[in-house]
Amino acid sequence: MSTTSSVDATAGRIPDREDTAQRLLRTSAKHSYDPAVEIAWDAPLAPDRYFIDPRRSSLYGTALWDRMSEQQRIDLTKHELASLYCMGIWFETILMQMLLRHVYDRPKGSAHARYAWTEIADECRHSVMFSRAAEKFGGAHYGPDWLVHQLGRLLKTTSNGTLSFGGAIYVEEILDAVQREQMTDQSLQPMVQKVSWIHVVEEARHIRYAREETHRQWPRLGPLGRAYSRFILALVVYFSTSRLIDPKVYAAVGLDVDEAVAAAAANPHWRETKRFAAHKVITFFNEVGLIAGPGKLLWRRAGLL
Ligand SMILES: [Fe+2]
Ligand SMILES: [Fe+2]
Repeated sequence: MSTTSSVDATAGRIPDREDTAQRLLRTSAKHSYDPAVEIAWDAPLAPDRYFIDPRRSSLYGTALWDRMSEQQRIDLTKHELASLYCMGIWFETILMQMLLRHVYDRPKGSAHARYAWTEIADECRHSVMFSRAAEKFGGAHYGPDWLVHQLGRLLKTTSNGTLSFGGAIYVEEILDAVQREQMTDQSLQPMVQKVSWIHVVEEARHIRYAREETHRQWPRLGPLGRAYSRFILALVVYFSTSRLIDPKVYAAVGLDVDEAVAAAAANPHWRETKRFAAHKVITFFNEVGLIAGPGKLLWRRAGLL
C-alpha cells in the first residue's frame, strides 16, 4: 500500500533518537523559562485590550456578536482564553502521564529518557502558568465535560506510542498556531503575549520530539494496530477540538448559553479558526498516514477536513 511505503521512506530519514534528544537537551538548558519569575503576575490587566484577537473568538461575526458591547466582547475573549488554558492543563496532565509511561522501560542513562523527564518538567511549569493566568482571567474552573474528562483518563492509561505522541502533537500544534499569533500581537494584553511566548519557545522542542517519535512508533504497528490508532486519534481530535471553549464562558459574560453555543457551532469564522489552528498538524498526519478509515468522519464532524 502506498501509505506503508511512504512511511518506510520517511522512517529512513528520521534522525537518530539519541542525537535528537542530546540536541533538545542542549536547547532546553539554554532556553527554559520559569513563569513564576518571568511573568508580572501582580500587574493590572489593561481594561481596553483584547485577550485574543477578536477574529479568533468563537462568536466573531455572528448576529450575537453584533449585539454585544465592546466591553462584553473583550470579556468574552478573556474567558475564552481562560478556557483554552484550562483545556491546555487537561491535556498537559494527560501528556505528562503518557510520557512517564513511555520512559518507564527506557535505559536510565539515555538522552531520550532525560529529555522525556525534561519535557515533563516543562509541562509542569506550563500547567502552573496556565492555572495562574486562567485564574487571573476569571476562569480557572473551565475544562472538558464529564464524558471527555473520563475519556482522557482512559487515553492516558492505555495509549500506545503512536497515540501518546500523535495525541500530544495534535493538541500542542493547535495551541501553538494560536499562540504564535498572540505572542507578536502588540494590541493584546501584555501578559497574554508573554505566556504565549514562553509556551511557543518550549513547545517547539516538544513538537520535534513527538513528530520524530511518531515516525518511529507508527511503522511498528500492524494493520490492526494502525486502524485502531487512526480511529482513537480521530476521537482525540474530535473531542479536544469540540471542547476548546467551555460553554460556561458564555454565561460568564451574560449571554444565553444555548443561543451562544448554537451561534458558535454555526459560525464559519470559528470553523475557519479551527482549520487554521489544525492546518500544520493535518499536513503532518497525512504524511504519516494517520488520517484514514472510519475515523475520517470524526475529522469531518470536527469541521477540520
Ligand atoms: Fe505545554
Ligand atoms: Fe508540550
